[in-house]
Order: sequence, then C-alpha cells, then structure tokens
Amino acid sequence: MDTINYGMLSQTMTEIRKVDQINPDPAIIARAASVIRNGGTVVFPTETVYGLGADATNDSSVMKIYRAKGRPPDNPLIVHFSSLDMMREYVHVPPDLERFARNIWPGPVTFILESTSKISIVARASLPTAGSRMPANPVALALIESAGVPISAPSANISTRPSIVSSAEAIEELDGKVDMILDAGETFFGMESTVLRQVEGGYEILRPGAVGVEDLEPLLGRIFVSAAARAAESVDKPITPGMKYRHYSPGKTLYRIEDKGAFISYVEEQLPGDMGIICSDEVASSIGLHCITLGTEKDLYEIAKNLFPAFRRLDSGSYKSGIIHGFPESGIGLAIMNRIRKASIPIH
Ligand code: TXA
Ligand code: MG
Repeated sequence: MDTINYGMLSQTMTEIRKVDQINPDPAIIARAASVIRNGGTVVFPTETVYGLGADATNDSSVMKIYRAKGRPPDNPLIVHFSSLDMMREYVHVPPDLERFARNIWPGPVTFILESTSKISIVARASLPTAGSRMPANPVALALIESAGVPISAPSANISTRPSIVSSAEAIEELDGKVDMILDAGETFFGMESTVLRQVEGGYEILRPGAVGVEDLEPLLGRIFVSAAARAAESVDKPITPGMKYRHYSPGKTLYRIEDKGAFISYVEEQLPGDMGIICSDEVASSIGLHCITLGTEKDLYEIAKNLFPAFRRLDSGSYKSGIIHGFPESGIGLAIMNRIRKASIPIH
C-alpha cells in the first residue's frame, strides 16, 4: 500500500511564525508548545530536516501527522526528547547506551528502543519499540521542553516526496495542512538522522543518515550495514517499515548511472534534450552543459544538503525526467547513495 485514503481532508488555518533558529523567542516557543499540548500539529526545524510534530503520548494528535503526510499507518514515527531524563520516562535506555549518550545527543542519531505504553501506539505503528532521539536544534529542544511531552515527528514532507530542508519548502507543501509552521530558514544537515538498533555484537544501521559509520564506530563499536540499508537491492522482508516504501522521490522519473565515467559518456552521447542533469560541480564543468548542481565532490556534506532541493528543482523545472550520478559511500555518502537509489531507476 503506497497511499491511504483518509477521506476528505479539510483545510486548516496554518499559523506561520518566523523564529530565530539559534535564539528562539520564548513567546513564539510557548505558543507552539500550547498548540502541541492542545493536540495540534507543528512543523519545526531540527538539525537534519524539518519535522511534522505532535504530542507523542496522544493517539489522536499523532493520527493527524499520518493524515497530513498521507503516510502509511504501518510506518512508525521518530520520537523526539529534550533531555535524557525525559527519555528515561518514556523509553528504556539500556545502560551501555547511557554510557555514550552524552557523546551523541543532542544529535542526528536515532536508536530503536523498547518503549513504555506512554508513547502512543499509533506513533509506534503497534511496535513494542520507539525510534528515539534528541535533536541538536535550539528551536526543537525548546519546543519539546516547553510542551513538557515528547514530540513524534517524521520528516515534514508529504509521503514519498523529498524531505523538507527549508521553511520556504515547508510553507509551500504544508500551508493549510498543519496548525503551525515555525519558519526558521534552512536546516543544518539537510539529511535525516542515522537510525540504529542494537544487535548481537554491535549496532545495525536501519537507515543511513547524517552521521557516518566511521564516526559511530569509535563510540559504539561494530556497526553493521546491510545491503538493504544501502538500498543496493530491493527488500522483500524489510527490517524497518520505512524500507519497503518509495521514498524521497521527485515527482518526475529520475534515472541514475552510478559510475561517473559512464554517466559522463551517456550525457555527452545520448542525453535526451528534455532530461535534467543533477550532478556535482566537477561533473558539470567537465560536460559543460546546464545542470542542477549539488556542489563540490570534495565536501559530501554540501552534496547531502543540496540533494533534496535538487530533486525539488527537477520537479519545478521544465524537464520531462532527470538523471543523477553516484558518490562515494563513505561518511555521509552512505546516506546520499541510499536516498539516490530509493529515488531513482538505474540505467545500465
Ligand atoms: O532526522 C530525522 O530522523 C527526521 C527528523 C524530523 O528527526 N525524522 C525522520 O523521520 O526522518 P521519518 O519518519 O521520515 O523516518 C523515520 C525512520 C523510518 O524509516 C521508520 O521506518 C524508522 O525511522 N523507524 C521509526 N521508528 C521505528 C521503530 N520503532 N522500529 C524500526 N524503525 C523505526
Ligand atoms: Mg521521511
């Protein structure tokens, strides 16, 4: 099932408030927190992408998130906490996680933890566990703290669309669908958190994200990366519900040729005139054609940050389809390739 029919969606009056991302106005935070406490939905920035938040302890509030996003109800939401003390009240934090928690949180790492019944069963999609993290963003932390409850928040995009990395995109996509949008400009990473679960002998990456294996291993020990997490092959039995759905995609068909040399030959020799080229600065200058550029290959964080906006530019431009090349799978590159593969069709 890819989309859900929730019946007629009524338009909501969305309150849009500008807020400083580093030093948020307490009055605006208090207002957003009251929307959360009263069962409403608030779009807010995190250090990764914008989230579409609601009170994680309230089934009917959480239901509004699924409805606004058109998200399949069997795909659970990440729960955001403002402190380790708050986290301990709602989920089971194992002792070994306590040891390195201060090194990863606040930050873009999500752990699948055993949940108490205080976290809405709707947010957990009936699982006994909850994806849990503490975001490194002053607006997000202040909002959760002021609401006094954990906040469930998936990425704020409409289901299957590219994640939202700026308030302009949030307003364009969600005005009229949520109660409030906190307009705080661009997010820092533009790429979602890394999702991990504990397994025999270490941790397994369920979804690669802003923090790479190389940075996690010194803290957590052995990190396992399955082919499914790389999105290198199709998944028959997904270990995280998010794996089985099409994701992060532009509306137009996006093709990929992972090998850069093969990509350049294809573009130079047989590119259809109406195909948008999404590529690095280096590839753009080598082919000398108009491209949607992602930034320099020397900085994969820059490529990651420009990826979802590039998908959106493909959709808004006059292209019929698009094509993109591959990047090294080191560091945040693993997340970049996971998103590219999930959004595109390979050309061999
Ligand atoms: O950076 C992020 O993680 C952003 C910001 C807003 O925090 N959130 C985000 O949420 O990307 P979402 O819902 O788009 O992706 C959450 C992923 C999905 O792949 C979901 O299946 C997985 O985490 N997940 C959540 N809870 C889980 C659970 N209990 N067990 C297994 N997977 C879970
Ligand atoms: Mg998402």
